[in-house]
Amino acid sequence: MAVSLQALSPLSVDAGGSERARHYETVLQHIDALLEGETDWIAAMATVACALHHAFDYYHWTGFYRAVSDDLLIVGPYQGTHGCLRIPFCRGVCGAAARTRQTQLVPDVHRFPDHIACSSTTQSEIVVPVLTPDGRLLAVLDVDSDEPAAFNAIDQHYLEQLCAELGRRFAHTPQR
Ligand code: SME
Repeated sequence: MAVSLQALSPLSVDAGGSERARHYETVLQHIDALLEGETDWIAAMATVACALHHAFDYYHWTGFYRAVSDDLLIVGPYQGTHGCLRIPFCRGVCGAAARTRQTQLVPDVHRFPDHIACSSTTQSEIVVPVLTPDGRLLAVLDVDSDEPAAFNAIDQHYLEQLCAELGRRFAHTPQR
């Protein structure tokens, strides 16, 4: 059984690279344990959003947008203040991640053309697609921070690892 998340202090944005990486290893291990045997995709998204949100000081909005059709995302489980409800693939950072199926790492949202400002305090953002092994887009994981350039290659590496695992586990979910 992984270390209890309650025993884990939220990681500061100032933490060094190796500390950040170690923290992700622990958090992902914990998420893995929490999801053991779970087959419900909504329950999994809610659990992941909660676990991540409370494990990092610099995560200020943490959640999923579900790909409900070939060109529309609808908000799923999240933590933080209100998120917009619907995002077409042609709009915003989330739409870009859904359209390109590539992680979008945005150090300064004010320089991202077409960023959708759900909160005026957001400064940086990372959005990672959740793809099944056969290439179906289930959702995107969106994390927004009030800190400038909060996310780096370490965040990207571990969040991509997490989303790949979710895509494998929930490849057969009929829920979108
Ligand atoms: N900033 C995102 C929209 C989602 S919210 O910020 C929660 C975007 O540009 O896609």
